[in-house]
Amino acid sequence: MTLRTQTFELNSPQAKPGPPRRDLISTHDLDAHEIHALFNLTAMLKERPADFRSALAGKQMVMFFEKPSLRTRLTFEAGMDSLGGSTFFVDQTGSRIDARESLHDIAHNLERWIDLIVLRTFSHATVEEMAAHADVPVINALSDLEHPCQALADLFTLQEHFGDLSRIHLAYVGDGNNVAHSLLLAGATLGSSVSIATPQGHAPLATIVEATEEIAGETGAAINIYTDPREAVAGADAVYTDVWASMGQEDEANARNAVFAPYQINSGLMQDAAPHALFMHCLPAHRGWEVTDEVIDAPNSVVFEQAENRLHIQKAILMWLLGGVGRLPVRSAHA
Ligand code: CP
Ligand code: NVA
Repeated sequence: MTLRTQTFELNSPQAKPGPPRRDLISTHDLDAHEIHALFNLTAMLKERPADFRSALAGKQMVMFFEKPSLRTRLTFEAGMDSLGGSTFFVDQTGSRIDARESLHDIAHNLERWIDLIVLRTFSHATVEEMAAHADVPVINALSDLEHPCQALADLFTLQEHFGDLSRIHLAYVGDGNNVAHSLLLAGATLGSSVSIATPQGHAPLATIVEATEEIAGETGAAINIYTDPREAVAGADAVYTDVWASMGQEDEANARNAVFAPYQINSGLMQDAAPHALFMHCLPAHRGWEVTDEVIDAPNSVVFEQAENRLHIQKAILMWLLGGVGRLPVRSAHA
């Protein structure tokens, strides 16, 4: 059996001295070339997990989560374990990360012990500040502004179904929240059509829309923001929704349920999408509110494929940021 070192075009900053350390704070941190390279690596990790068992041997990751998690926590932990690395989880749901000492001081402790930091926070500034101070890579595992790991897994899922992402139309209906922001940025970067429909007052942040339109100007992506869900969904290849009240907004749930009721994804709304349209949701879902059982349990619902792909995409992100790529012997396809 011939062994060769697999190479990727993805720049692997930790593999050799020179390039600056990279973080994944926003979907905006990756250009189209890098996302495609990440997706190629993701596909290999998904197809041949056994070939990557020791890719990150000896690497250690710490996770601080200010909010609950099922998918993100377990896919990061299982992913790191399957690459040979180890994880330390810090339950930060009782107080903010910086409640006891400054982020500056925490960062300069962590960088001396640990190779990579994963944060789930309320304030996006917490992730940015940790990255500004720490000398090791930082990953945003969801903040109030963005959820980049989710959007990358979602676009990878769409690529598995449709191939060329520059030809797909993704419609997102619901709250203009962190997930919507990251889907806008990732979709625009990859040249996809992204339509969003939200109630008035719940549109994506203007700064995100402006950044998305600037990217779209370069990639040819079509970005449309509506208040009418039918306009957004018309002819779409995939229809996506998320909870109407995100973590931290639980007190607003009743008021939001009334405002968002016309934005429910039900079989009537799905009929306006393309006949082959997929249903997508990052989960957790509130069945009977933002989506009906009939839609989420239908054969064209890919919600559990999205959840599975969280594992594979995050393994690729970990390898990219920790330099596992450059030192990986894999079986030659020609052996
Ligand atoms: N989709 C997602 O991030 O799920 P968790 O909140 O369970 O991590
Ligand atoms: N918008 C949701 C996503 C959960 C994965 C939240 O922030 O709670």
